[in-house]
Amino acid sequence: MIKKICCIGAGYVGGPTMAVIAYHCPEIDIHIVDSNNERIDLWNSDNLDNIPVKEPGLSKIISKVRGKNLFFSNEVDKYIDLCEMIFIAVNTPTKTSGEGKGMAADLKNIINCAKQVSLASKSDKIIVEKSTLPVRTAEKIKEILENNKREKINFEIISNPEFLAEGTAIQDLFKSDRVLIGADQTESGKIAQNKLIDIYKKWIPEEKIIKTNVWSSELSKLASNAMLAQRISSINSLSALAEKSGAKIDELSMAIGKDHRIGNKFLNASIGFGGSCFQKDILNLVYISRQYGLDEVADYWHNVVKINEFQKDRFSQIIIRNIETSSNQTVSVLGWAFKKDTNDSRESSSIAVTSNLILKGLTVNVYDPLIKINQIYHDITAYLEFKNINQKNITRLLKKLSVKDNLNDCIIETDAIAFLTEWDKFLNIKWDKFSKNQHIKNKPKIFDGRGIIDYEYVSSLGYQIYQIGNGDNSIN
Ligand code: UDX
Ligand code: UDX
Repeated sequence: MIKKICCIGAGYVGGPTMAVIAYHCPEIDIHIVDSNNERIDLWNSDNLDNIPVKEPGLSKIISKVRGKNLFFSNEVDKYIDLCEMIFIAVNTPTKTSGEGKGMAADLKNIINCAKQVSLASKSDKIIVEKSTLPVRTAEKIKEILENNKREKINFEIISNPEFLAEGTAIQDLFKSDRVLIGADQTESGKIAQNKLIDIYKKWIPEEKIIKTNVWSSELSKLASNAMLAQRISSINSLSALAEKSGAKIDELSMAIGKDHRIGNKFLNASIGFGGSCFQKDILNLVYISRQYGLDEVADYWHNVVKINEFQKDRFSQIIIRNIETSSNQTVSVLGWAFKKDTNDSRESSSIAVTSNLILKGLTVNVYDPLIKINQIYHDITAYLEFKNINQKNITRLLKKLSVKDNLNDCIIETDAIAFLTEWDKFLNIKWDKFSKNQHIKNKPKIFDGRGIIDYEYVSSLGYQIYQIGNGDNSIN
């Protein structure tokens, strides 16, 4: 039985996953290490409001296990050496330079970790790939470990991809649909696989723990994310058609989802998917398919990302078309997180939409309940830099952006309100009172990118509304 686990990477995956293992396995000591000292300090903060990952239920679990059998540290080498099982949960973003730029996963962090593990280890280790990785990455990790290791040390690499979704991470970890553990089908591979199974068995029913080979496990993660994203692009493509043809996308989703072969999940039309995984993983799948000479397969999956871009752009253009861009009008952007209940804005559609608006000369107010002002400026700046806009122009464009720290200030005097994240508190806007507010000269136009507005009621108060996928829209 494993007694000591080290997890490299105290991020959105490493933090919650290890907290839940610690909670269910009090007999195992778990050390989460990270090269980012500031992040570790936040995880160790006495005030649980400061922990760097905001997930419903996470701080409660941290309060139960931190300091008992869950520890956060920046002493990476020390805990690699001390522990028998090492999880790798570092980030694997899309490459921004070199071969595969803009498509392939950047394995720099993984390679660094593999080197660090091989150099710091004085005894056998089981390495668990938690990060989402291209198929056959375990082979590369193995090569690095073998090339740098001390004599007679055995490294066994298993793949155990994470399927948690942000905002529901704790719930997903407690009641996983499945736990996938891929290992070499050798004797030592199977022993390592069983050691990890023994850990998950503490709270996951055995029939939900799936054993595969390493490559199936690695590819299943990419494929799962690609298929989830594909559903969103499918429904988003249909939202454009619904608007033109007079159909309603929510009625379509309901009708389609009633077919139990299709199922009703992941059929919400939106301004496009965001988050650190979907786009990155699909582009990676596209890249890998091309490397194997499967151009048709690559093209098929690439279209999922292209429709996502189309949807973000389409939404931006609808706002721009309907707001007088020449007379310094203001658009209030509600929501910066890529979905509700998370403080993560990676790849959030709000970034692209807001950039499109300020590039057209509009003034934009932003409000998000969890994302900090610095992060919003950082996201926009990085996006504009990626679009090759020079610093002088970025500084000028940022003057068009104003981040508000409460909902009311964001929407009080504005020409348009755009709903980009489906935060629950946006459902509580009192439209009847708001419409009577004396400060409001003209009723702002409403652009609902999440289908969260009660269209009939709010339009009965005199608002003009564009709602994604709604064939009845009064704005289009
Ligand atoms: C995870 C996965 O691991 C990624 O592959 C998946 O596709 C998305 O989820 P995530 O936990 O969201 O990544 O990343 P992040 O929150 O950025 O955390 C990664 C952590 O690893 C950071 O705190 C970073 O400082 C740390 N890190 C990175 C190291 O400790 N060492 C490194 O060499 C690189
Ligand atoms: C995803 C996968 O769901 C998870 O299994 C994997 O481990 C990591 O990637 P995450 O990115 O955290 O999780 O969130 P998810 O709930 O999948 O949402 C991703 C994006 O799709 C969000 O921007 C969300 O708003 C959008 N979405 C989701 C839609 O636009 N419509 C839907 O019906 C569902």
